[in-house]
Amino acid sequence: MFKVLEKDLLAENIYRMVVEAPLVAEKAKAGNFVIVRVSDVGERIPLTICDNDPERGTLTLIIQAVGKSTRDLVNIPVGDYVKDVLGPLGTATEIKDMGRIIAVMGGIGVAPMLPLLRAYRKKGAEIISILGARTKDLLILQDEVRSLSDEVILVTDDGSEGMKGLVTDPLRQRLESGEHFDMAIAIGPARMMQAASKVTKEFNLPTLVSLNSIMIDGTGMCGGCRVSINGETKFACVDGPDFDGHAVNFDELVVRQGYYRDEEDHVCRTLGEERV
Ligand SMILES: Cc1cc2nc3c(=O)[nH]c(=O)nc-3n(C[C@H](O)[C@H](O)[C@H](O)COP(=O)(O)OP(=O)(O)OC[C@H]3O[C@@H](n4cnc5c(N)ncnc54)[C@H](O)[C@@H]3O)c2cc1C
Ligand code: FES
Repeated sequence: MFKVLEKDLLAENIYRMVVEAPLVAEKAKAGNFVIVRVSDVGERIPLTICDNDPERGTLTLIIQAVGKSTRDLVNIPVGDYVKDVLGPLGTATEIKDMGRIIAVMGGIGVAPMLPLLRAYRKKGAEIISILGARTKDLLILQDEVRSLSDEVILVTDDGSEGMKGLVTDPLRQRLESGEHFDMAIAIGPARMMQAASKVTKEFNLPTLVSLNSIMIDGTGMCGGCRVSINGETKFACVDGPDFDGHAVNFDELVVRQGYYRDEEDHVCRTLGEERV
C-alpha cells in the first residue's frame, strides 16, 4: 500500500499527487513510468514519474482524470492509500550532451517532459520550450517549465494566452528562421507528436517522442503496447516509451489507442460520467 501525501488540482480534471514509494523513488530516472492500481480489482494505469525525491521517498504524478480508473485514483483522499505502485518501468532516456534543445509539449505531455528538461538542464543544455494547450486554463505547470527553460513560448488553440495556434506554428517559425538546435523533444497527444515530428523531419532535426500506447503488464509480456518503429515491432513499455519521432508509425498508434473505446465509453455511461 502506498500513501497519498499531497494532492492538488492543477486545472479541470488534472491533479498533482505525491505518493510515498521509497523503493521506486530511489531508482527512478528520466523517462521511467509506474503502473498504478487503485484497488485489488483495479485496472492498471501507466503514469510517468514526473519527479522523484529519494530522500523523502516520494513520487510526483500528474494525472488527467479521463475515465473510470484515473477518476478513482484522483478521488483517493490525502492520507489514504493506493494499492500498487509498480516501477520504475521503461527504459530510462539516455541523456547525451546537447547544446540547444527545442522542447514541444501539449496538454498533459508537460508531465513526461519535465524530468527530461531537468536531466538535460543538468547536462548544461540551453532549452527553448513551447508549451501548448486548448485554452489558457489548461496550460499547466508553467512555473516548472520556466524554471527549466531559457525561453518559454505559450500557445493556445483559442488565443486566450500566448500565441493563437498550434505548437507546431512557433516550432516551424523558429526552424525556418535558421536557428540552430541539436535536438527536439515532442510530447503530447499522438497527433501532436506526429505533426511536430513531420516539421522537424523537414529540417533534419533529431526528435525524441514519448509514446503513450495502451499498456497492460508494462513488462514486455502481453504485447498490448506494440508500436512500429521504422517498420519493426517494438514494445513501448520496455523498448520505450521514448523513440525517434521520425521512425514512429503514428497512424497505427492512434488506431491502437482507440481499440477499447467502446468498452471505455460503456463504463463511463454506466457510471453516469462523461469521457474527457
Ligand atoms: C507510458 C505512459 C505514461 C503515461 N503517463 C501519464 C501521465 O503522466 N499522466 C496521465 O494523466 N496519463 C498518463 N498516461 C495515460 C494514462 O495511462 C491513461 O489516461 C489511463 O490509463 C486512462 O485510464 P482510464 O480508465 O481512466 O480511462 P479510459 O476511459 O479507460 O481510457 C481513456 C483513454 O486513455 C487511454 N488508456 C486507457 N487505458 C490505458 C492503458 N492501460 N494504457 C495506456 N493508455 C490507456 C486510451 O487512449 C483511452 O482512450 C500514460 C500512458 C502511458 C502508456
Ligand atoms: S504493456 Fe504488455 S508488452 Fe508492453
